Amino acid sequence: MLGSRHDAEVVRGTYARTFARMQAILESYGGTVEKFIGDAVMAVFGVPVAHEDDALRALRAALELRADITTHNARSPMPLQVRVGVNTGEVVAGSGRGGQFLVTGQPVNIGARLQTAARPGEVLVGSLTRELTSASVRYAEPRWIEAKGAGSVAAFAVVDMLTEATALSTVPSAALVDRDAELRMLFDTYERVRVERRPYLVTIYGEAGVGKSRVAREFVNPLGPDRVRAGRCLPYGEGVTFAPLQEMLRADLGIVASDDATEATAKLTAIVRTALDEEDADVVSRGIAVLAGLATVPSVWPDLPAESVASELNFALRRFLEQRSESEPLILVLEDAHWAEPALLDVIEHLTEWARAPLLVVCLARPELVVRRPAWGGGKARTLAMTLDPLSADHTRRLVEALLPPARSARREEIVERSEGNPLYVEEFVRRVVEVDQPPTSVPATLQGLIAARVDSLEPGIKAMLQRASVSGRVVSTEALTAVGDDPREIESLLRGALRHGFITATDEPGPGGGREYRFNHMLTRDVVYASLPKSERAKLHDRFGRWLETVGARRGVEDPEVVGYHAEQACLFAREVGLDDAPALGSRAFLRLLAAATSARDRADYHGSRALFQRAAAIGETSDVDQVLLIQARGYAATSRLRLESSPDAVAQLERVLSDARRLGPSPVLANLLWWSAMYAMPADAVLAHARHLEAIKIARAVGEPATVAAALRASAALAAARGDLDEERGVLREARALLEPRADRSILARVLLGLANNATRRGDLDEARARIDEALPLARDLVGRILAQRAKTEYLRAIGDREGATASAEQALLAARELGSPSAVAGAASALGAVLRQRGQLEPSRAVLEDAFVVARGSAEKIVVAQLRCELARTLLALDDVQGARRCIEDGEIPSTDVGTSAAAKATLAQIFAAERLPEQADALFREAVALLEPTGLALDLAECRLEHAAFLAYPGR
Ligand SMILES: Nc1ncnc2c1ncn2[C@@H]1O[C@H](COP(=O)(O)OP(=O)(O)OP(=O)(O)O)[C@@H](O)[C@H]1O
Ligand SMILES: [Mg+2]
Repeated sequence: MLGSRHDAEVVRGTYARTFARMQAILESYGGTVEKFIGDAVMAVFGVPVAHEDDALRALRAALELRADITTHNARSPMPLQVRVGVNTGEVVAGSGRGGQFLVTGQPVNIGARLQTAARPGEVLVGSLTRELTSASVRYAEPRWIEAKGAGSVAAFAVVDMLTEATALSTVPSAALVDRDAELRMLFDTYERVRVERRPYLVTIYGEAGVGKSRVAREFVNPLGPDRVRAGRCLPYGEGVTFAPLQEMLRADLGIVASDDATEATAKLTAIVRTALDEEDADVVSRGIAVLAGLATVPSVWPDLPAESVASELNFALRRFLEQRSESEPLILVLEDAHWAEPALLDVIEHLTEWARAPLLVVCLARPELVVRRPAWGGGKARTLAMTLDPLSADHTRRLVEALLPPARSARREEIVERSEGNPLYVEEFVRRVVEVDQPPTSVPATLQGLIAARVDSLEPGIKAMLQRASVSGRVVSTEALTAVGDDPREIESLLRGALRHGFITATDEPGPGGGREYRFNHMLTRDVVYASLPKSERAKLHDRFGRWLETVGARRGVEDPEVVGYHAEQACLFAREVGLDDAPALGSRAFLRLLAAATSARDRADYHGSRALFQRAAAIGETSDVDQVLLIQARGYAATSRLRLESSPDAVAQLERVLSDARRLGPSPVLANLLWWSAMYAMPADAVLAHARHLEAIKIARAVGEPATVAAALRASAALAAARGDLDEERGVLREARALLEPRADRSILARVLLGLANNATRRGDLDEARARIDEALPLARDLVGRILAQRAKTEYLRAIGDREGATASAEQALLAARELGSPSAVAGAASALGAVLRQRGQLEPSRAVLEDAFVVARGSAEKIVVAQLRCELARTLLALDDVQGARRCIEDGEIPSTDVGTSAAAKATLAQIFAAERLPEQADALFREAVALLEPTGLALDLAECRLEHAAFLAYPGR
């Protein structure tokens, strides 16, 4: 940046001085200079200690650097140019040689790129930096720059800083929700101050964002600006001890930013002289000049001993404010008092204790104030403290409703749940949803910074303890903490520390392993704390924690295999990610634990849970050294349970892949299971293949020797006979299955077999038998799939005996349960039955609605027969609604498999009715005859009777 026409020594000197000033500026904003490279400086903010406004600090520093260079250029014969790049993101921080520390990662590279892309005098920032500071800084439109490895990235040039009043927000604030009690208390206190003419100190405690500032604002607004002086404490520390008082006093004296020292002092003197007698006026104007930042202590009291300064200041402030509140009470609001310097708190305390005037001091503080100043306000007369709790769920919902545009209202409940009553979190989540329509799952960057800063301000011991606690989730017990490596002698005091800082609360319940239980006050806090743990630590802690849970569970006889499985899985995944030596061992362990959890979920008929767990087990097992037979078990059940829930072509393909691998490993229950599922899906297209697979499934089940597995294989195969219309054969197979089962041990499979027998009886027209089997099955069919099957069987039976209302009710139950299961084919089956009954009852529009809804869900299902049945029912309802074209389209739109006799016949009869409605009686008649001919040789008595009736009706009135 410098020309060679300058003397090398001058250049070096200028550089050295400039760098020194830059470093001082950067450090004054909490930045750390990482290195000087040539004529460039690199500084980081938020590492090693995060602040809630690191991005903004970096920008303020950048602007001050620029101003500094401008000043330098005005005076120096050697002008300099400056270009600044600022970027935000997750980096890896470590210490380099000689204690120098280093940050690396893509955000650093992009930051460097922004710097080189900046024009002279420009401050150019990346997207996340912009997002984090957009409330305070105005930016130009983005321009795009190329960054190696990151492609094209958006860059924003700083235009200027916004003042607080002009700050923009994409989410307007909502009308105040709740807080009546707190406001009433504030007004009451104000009233007492006014009447008693004595000071009161009120401290409002509450976690970040819970609404302290808002409540204070709502309180003071109706009183008017004349009565209120507000000042804010800053987290920067040094040199700004009295900054909040300065803010209050300058406002009180009417001093504005453009006033120079003479003008400001003149305003001060004028006010003080008119209000006070001469003796006091002198001391007060000196003291207030110091507190208002208009003069330094040595300049006003050159000879005053240091130990007397405080009492002079106290006196000055007290006298001054007593005077200023003589006619009417004055309210002083101290924002963010948890950052106040002790000296400032001393002044406030003195004031409220000694003043003889109507002064109401309201301090707003996060819980850590109590940690920094345990005795704050304590034991003094006329002091009050209140804590703002998070909003209730109802109030939170009201706030979300007020902020969320109607178009995004689908996200409402997620936001209510994630924000847990914290209005700031509500606003941030709404902002995220509005701006990028992202679900409120991850922690928004703005909150991340806020929370991380609080975490980093903790003592290292407490922070580390919270990190360990976060591994166990929201709740942790002292026992668990001991198990993951905390020293039992220290835990209590660390927990107390965290409690005082407002990070956790004690629950009243004992934890799983005994000991006391604590929970993070907010899930987001837990998430941020957890995210601050290095991955290798997470691996280690998840492992320890999972093992501990396992022993505790075993000891108490209550095991939670899913939670154990989860920790084992996380341990393995993190260990792999960072390449730890024990990753393979953790993989084998995770596989076994997940498989155990999946099996236990399957045993309690948790279809969704077991599907996911088998899948997770399989995913880890496939990349670990595990028993191949067990691996096939995981993969196999993952595939069959997926098929049950999805019935999609992809799921069928997955099943076929696992099936061929499973065959190679020889007979096993899972192989039998895979075979009958695959047979079921092969059936519509290839009955021969389906038959072969069913036989193979039965053979393997017998070889494995579990009666329940044999019975399940038999039951599945019975569907083949039913499809052919051979109901005697179907009954025989089902009876064989039934004979194998123990009523007590095999409830759910027995229920399915009995319901199969019931359907078989209904279709044969043996209604007494059907009723008996249903009654027998009902108490056994407890799980979701069992309930669906039971209600389906009941529907068919009730239809057959002519109880259409009963049939409607059962079909509705079945549909409800099918939707709960979420399986498209179950929905299609139940909806077909319901649609048919409703049509029979003349409720045509409801019938259509039910069928069409189901059709949307099920049309892509690989269970072709069920979909074909749904098509037929929908076509018939459309026909009844006189939508003949619609009916035809509906039937012709998809394939009707010929392997299921009942369905083929139904499709023919449906088409026949369409022809009849189209006044093509010959075609109609021919199709009716074909349908009857299909059914006649079978045992499908009920279907045949219905078909014949329809045909007869057609013959009686051919044109309808
Ligand atoms: N009861 C409420 N009804 C509607 N909006 C609220 C309510 N309480 C707070 N808010 C909004 O939530 C946001 C955060 O509130 P506020 O700034 O008062 O929190 P705080 O407790 O002062 O946080 P901090 O500790 O960070 O200062 C603000 O935009 C505020 O307007
Ligand atoms: Mg606040």
